[in-house]
Formats: sequence, C-alpha cells, structure tokens
Amino acid sequence: MQNITTTFKKLFYLWRRSQVPVKQPIIISRIDNLIIFLVCILISIITSYKLLLISPLKIVDIFSWLLTFTEILVSSGVLILVSKKENPTISSRQIFLIITLLLAVQVAKLSLASNISPLSLIIPPALIISQGMGSITALAWVSIASLIWPDPEIIINNNLFFILLVCASIVSLLGGRIRSRAQLLQLSIFVPIVSFLSQWILIGKDKISLISKKDFVLANGDIFSDSLLLAIAMLFTILFIPIFESIFGLLTKARLLELADKEKPLIRRLSLEAPGTFEHTLLICGLAEEATRMIGGDIDLIKTGALYHDVGKLHAPNWFIENQDGSKNPHDELDDPIKSAEVLQAHVDEGLKFARKNRLPRLIANFIPEHQGTLKMGYFFQKAKEKNLDINEYQFRYKGPIPQSKETAILMLADGCEAALRAMNIKASDKEALETISNIIYSRQNDGQLDDSNLSQGEIFLIKIAFLNVWKRIRHRRIQYPTSKNNTFS
Ligand SMILES: [Fe+2]
Ligand SMILES: [Fe+2]
Repeated sequence: MQNITTTFKKLFYLWRRSQVPVKQPIIISRIDNLIIFLVCILISIITSYKLLLISPLKIVDIFSWLLTFTEILVSSGVLILVSKKENPTISSRQIFLIITLLLAVQVAKLSLASNISPLSLIIPPALIISQGMGSITALAWVSIASLIWPDPEIIINNNLFFILLVCASIVSLLGGRIRSRAQLLQLSIFVPIVSFLSQWILIGKDKISLISKKDFVLANGDIFSDSLLLAIAMLFTILFIPIFESIFGLLTKARLLELADKEKPLIRRLSLEAPGTFEHTLLICGLAEEATRMIGGDIDLIKTGALYHDVGKLHAPNWFIENQDGSKNPHDELDDPIKSAEVLQAHVDEGLKFARKNRLPRLIANFIPEHQGTLKMGYFFQKAKEKNLDINEYQFRYKGPIPQSKETAILMLADGCEAALRAMNIKASDKEALETISNIIYSRQNDGQLDDSNLSQGEIFLIKIAFLNVWKRIRHRRIQYPTSKNNTFS
C-alpha cells in the first residue's frame, strides 16, 4: 500500500514538474557559432602560418604546422568552454570579445612584438576579461595568449615570461574582485611598479634608460619604458571599460555598484510613485543580501537585482497592496479575477520593458521574471473558483521562467517571506518565525520553483537561518525603548 502511495506521489511530482518550463540553456545562434569558429580558425592560421614559410617545405614541416594549428584551435575551444563554465549565461557577444582579444594580441605580437614588451600586450586584455567575465576565464585567456606566442622575433627571456605570468595572474585574480573604479586605478599603478621592480631585480639594472631617450616608448627590453607603457595601456583600458560594458553587455562589479545607486532615475521614480513597493524592495534587499552572504553567492548581483525586481509595478502602483492606503482597492471595483491576474502578470512584462528602456544588463533583468517564476496567484484563482468561472489554472500562474540561478531563487524566497515577516506579531518567538519561513520556502520548493536553481538542501537551510536573523533585527528595531520625561538623551 505504501509503495502505491509513493508511486502516486512520484507521478504527481513528475506531472507537476512537467507543467513548469524546462531550463533553457543559453542558445547561441548558428551564425554566431560560425563567426566564433571562423575567428578561432583565423587565430590558428595567424599564429602558425610562419611554419609554412620555410623553404624547401618538407612533409615534416607540414606535419608540425598541422599539429600547431590543431593545438591552437583546441586551445581556443578550451578557452570558450572555460568561459561558459564560469559564466553559464555568457552571451555570444562576450565569447566573441574573448576570442577577438586573443586574435588582436596574436596580430599585435606578429607586428609589434619586436618593439613592445609582452607585458603591455597581454595584461590590459586580461584586465578587461577578469572584470567582465571573471578571474578563471581571465587566467585561461592569459595562459593561452602566453602559450601560443607566434614564433617570436625576439628571444623571450625566461625571467620576463615568469614576470608576465605573475603580473597577468595578479591582474586576473584581483580584476575579478575589484569593486570600484578607484581600486582599478590603484591596480593600474601597482602592477607596472611590481613589473618594473621585478624586471630590475631579475633581468638587470643596466637596462634602465631615462625618459629623454629617443626611442623611449618603443625600445624593447627597456625596463623603465616597458613598465611605463604598461601603466599607460592599463589606464587607457580602464577608460574604455565602460564602452566595453555597453557594447558587449559586460557586468563588472563597478557597474553593479553604480546601478545599485538609489539616486538612479528609475529607483527614484519607484520611491516617489510607489513608496510601498520601494519599502518592500529595501526589506527584500536586506533579506536577500544576508542569505546570499550565508551561502557564499554574489552579494553585489543580488543587491542590485533586488532593487530592480519590482520596477514593473510603476505601470500601475495602486493596483498592488503595498501601495494602497486601505481606502479602496481597484481589484474590488474591477471584480474580474482574470483581469486582476493579468494586471499582476503585467508587473513582470512592464518590468522587462523598463529594463530594456534603461539598458539594464541581462543578469539584472533576469530577476524580474524569475522572482515570480511560475507561481500561482492563489488569491485571484480562489476568487475565480468561487465565481464558478470557466478557468484554467495556468491563467493564474506567472509566465516564468522559474529561477535559473541561486541568486534569483533567493530573491523569490525573500519576496515570499517579506510580507509574512513584516506582518508577524512583535511578540512572536524565533520558533514561530522559523516555522513561517520554512512553510513559505517549502511551498515554493514543492511547487517545483527551485528545481533549476541549483540550491542544495544545506543551502536552503542556511537561507532559512539568514531570514530568521533578519527577522530578529527587524523585531529589535520595532521594540520601543522606555523613555523618561526628564531624560531625553539616547
Ligand atoms: Fe513581484
Ligand atoms: Fe517583490
């Protein structure tokens, strides 16, 4: 009997699971794939063609060219795979940026290598990649850009190669963590100084020349001018990073923090036109931030995503309970649950329109539909049932998709718990609060909303504890301190 019940439960779960959209991997169009492949071929040809220029050409030379060509092509493929692994939502434009930078460096090596130090060629692109796509992708790019150095016209000093790898790795690792333009500026001064000192120690002091020297910038092997050129190249890169951000849709930490500025016009509008939603947003930011910190997720991403998740409510603020003053509810006047459900869905659709208009990065815009997932609008569904309307449950579900990342899933859970925690009695115990949180999270989980988020059971437990900690803070803030008539100091 128990087996039959279990089988039914499983079948019911599978049926329910089939009703929510299946996780869609990032689809790169055939044309984009073809362009990326052609650029990889171009990189391989440019890097290896010199092997075919030997005369007389022997079979062994052709074989060695073929081997190098394949090695470079495979390396480019590995680079793309690493970037996809680190950024599952990477777009074709971003992949195109990574391999175009590789192509540009290979061309620059062939045409300028005898004049410019490899440090100035490899470190600035590593900074762009680490900022936009993360440290691991940047490290992979650096290794491949250094490995497939086309047959150099100058002999690369082993020490110089070592310094290049150390400096490029520092830039790749720090670049992925840096949170402001000021820190980037510090890095662009720090790295050239490190490269200058290490070259001085490892390569030799006698190669330092003065600024007045004629071939000041293009003098290869000149430690001082090489380091200065590196500093200038890095400063220019920092200047151009915002342009890369908008062309290739990169989401750097600095851009995230800029977007999280509450003086941004869209957020100001939210605070003025939908003050209730703005308050709800701030509380959710607190809940989501604490939970993300607990599980080691991307705090800057969730803080910014949470700020914009309900901007779509600006299309009709007073249709949402948090903005109503209690006098009249437009949904009661409308008296049509199907239309009311459409208004609720519109806050997602309009939010996406606001995101497009304000050029919000895709990773931030994803929070708008995914925080609602395919949740049921239970209240209006119930009303429609009471009215005996001819309805389908899916008319009363958000269109989704369900959360595709841990961050958007946390936001969905925070969104669900916020109102319940706010409404909770100030005298409620921790146990009661935890029970409320657990019930809400369980209902989302049971509804299949967390299936694509990759949240583990352990992480869900940590999220509950984080929400409870925030609730304790809210409760503490709401406790009135006793004041005496004669004593007004605090
Ligand atoms: Fe919402
Ligand atoms: Fe919300």
